[in-house]
Amino acid sequence: MGLMKKHETLERHSLALTLGILVTVAIGGIVEIAPLFYLENTIEKVEGMRPYTPLELAGRNVYIREGCYVCHSQMVRPLRDEVERYGHYSLAAESMYDHPFQWGSKRTGPDLARVGGKYSDTWHVDHLKDPQSMVPESVMPPYAFLADNTLHYETIDDHLKALRFEGVPYTDEMIENAQADLIAQADPDADYDAQDALVARYEEAAGREGSVRIADYDGNPEKVTELDALVAYLQMVGTLVDFSTYEADDLDNRR
Ligand code: HEC
Repeated sequence: MGLMKKHETLERHSLALTLGILVTVAIGGIVEIAPLFYLENTIEKVEGMRPYTPLELAGRNVYIREGCYVCHSQMVRPLRDEVERYGHYSLAAESMYDHPFQWGSKRTGPDLARVGGKYSDTWHVDHLKDPQSMVPESVMPPYAFLADNTLHYETIDDHLKALRFEGVPYTDEMIENAQADLIAQADPDADYDAQDALVARYEEAAGREGSVRIADYDGNPEKVTELDALVAYLQMVGTLVDFSTYEADDLDNRR
């Protein structure tokens, strides 16, 4: 009863109540925010992460422009049903070079955080041109026009520069060679030296081999299209970390 009486006093004095609320909320805020100032890094380092290659980045730009995120999230939550359906739960480090991130919470379609390597390039091409041809009950709209749209990559080096400003570790060399790297990745019959240079640059950033794939993604060797870029992006999403060797730090190390 005594306590109720005290609370009644609070309720009857709006200033006291406001102050009380402020103190309570501040405690909650401090408990959540203060530890972040003492952590060296809130993102656990993992091997294999590298910045997007120019072609993948151009594909990611198409993904954002077309609003694929309206129906697709890119974050596998650490819950059993999600892990069984999609694969290893997403790590913070996996989206550390994403500006803007694509986590999302709206899933009209499935989560795409682990879609890389799940299907062939041709599957993606057919599916993007006409989703119902691959999944008859699909409500995904067709994006066939991407196959006709020539990819405009004249300003791709500026995109790299802008991301470097945001903290993505693109080197001067990556920025200088952005256009050449883009073409080299989209055309397997192009200049082999340029391909070697591209692979060396990005694999060195990743700290492991095999993370850069060169292919004619849309199956049309005549030109580099927006579909090339989008499929290149989809095929690498969520593949950079080698989960056969990854072990989560135990909690003691993370403090
Ligand atoms: C209106 C909602 C909607 C939009 C917008 C949309 N999708 Fe989908 N997507 C779906 C649905 C529903 C499915 C599941 C059926 C299917 O596979 O077609 C799907 C499936 C997919 C799959 C196969 C995933 C898997 O694991 O089987 C990929 C890849 C995909 N979408 C990519 C895209 C891309 C890229 C875009 C943007 C260009 C896009 N989607 C836009 C609804 C959408």
